[in-house]
Amino acid sequence: MPLKEQIESVRNQFLADIESFPQAPPLIDQLKSKYLGRKGLVAQLFSKMSQVKSEDRPRMGQELNSLKIELTRQFENKVASILAPGKRSPDEAIDLTLPGKAPRLGSVHILEQTLSDMKEIFKSIGFHVAYGPEVDDDYHNFSALNIPEHHPARDMQDTFFVDAKTVLRTHTSNVQIHLMENEDPPIRYIVPGRVYRNEAISYKSYCLFHQVEGIYINKRVSFGELKGCLEYFVRHMFGAERGMRFRPSYFPFTEPSAEVDIWDEERQEWLEILGCGMVDPNVLDNVGYDSKIWHGYAFGMGVERIAMLKYNINDIRLFYNGDIRFLEQFA
Ligand code: PHE
Repeated sequence: MPLKEQIESVRNQFLADIESFPQAPPLIDQLKSKYLGRKGLVAQLFSKMSQVKSEDRPRMGQELNSLKIELTRQFENKVASILAPGKRSPDEAIDLTLPGKAPRLGSVHILEQTLSDMKEIFKSIGFHVAYGPEVDDDYHNFSALNIPEHHPARDMQDTFFVDAKTVLRTHTSNVQIHLMENEDPPIRYIVPGRVYRNEAISYKSYCLFHQVEGIYINKRVSFGELKGCLEYFVRHMFGAERGMRFRPSYFPFTEPSAEVDIWDEERQEWLEILGCGMVDPNVLDNVGYDSKIWHGYAFGMGVERIAMLKYNINDIRLFYNGDIRFLEQFA
């Protein structure tokens, strides 16, 4: 085999050896003596120079020298990589003095935080927490609450219909009926949940929002107790100084009825947060409670508006568009 081809074959052999070489120092010494030792393959090639024709000798000498240099360099790289595995080149080194990247933490949504504050306040004065259906028949959402079919009061809340007899509930008051149908008096519940209205959307109204319903039924219940309960709630939610007022109102399922407004510091105006009243005797009769014995009060409050007033949030739509910059402020 001509010397030139022998040089190529030693090179290829070396490359294959070094590629598959186990990373263990005693064996790397064997590799070194096999190729680069005094009697190694490269030295053997040099000794064949005497057989090369004199005109080819300079070129062959060059080839052999560069083989020796290349193998030596590769060998040294291999040794270096065994001694310092995974070592990075200087331009990708880690600067341990740089500040780290803080992981982004999730947080409880501000509506959920508000709702849990509300639940705690009512639980502290003896209310239990119950839930009910968001999709309901019009009997529970309307008729049983003293809002007959074709009555103009049905237009007080613009309704999403699922079919002629089924609605997305327009308020949590439907659960008043479910609770009273399933349990004998006395009862005292709050009912948090989502409600839906096909309303014009604005800074204070959205097509979906949350309410907390309250219902208390007992043998002697007065409007004074209702006022006391709601004042207790407002004082614990907003503090002793916050402007609050009761205003006479109308709901088919309560008589008398009222609404409560809270002073909006930002807009310098009153904002309604709840409707309430003494449960209408017709409603008690509809669920089979004897309205000569049992009386009660009920209320329904808007969770978004309470959060807006408490945290100075100026647009109800902020609760729903999932903007991290908004949500982070309440983490
Ligand atoms: N359901 C009424 C509303 O959504 C609020 C309310 C509840 C009023 C209970 C009186 C009693 O507007």
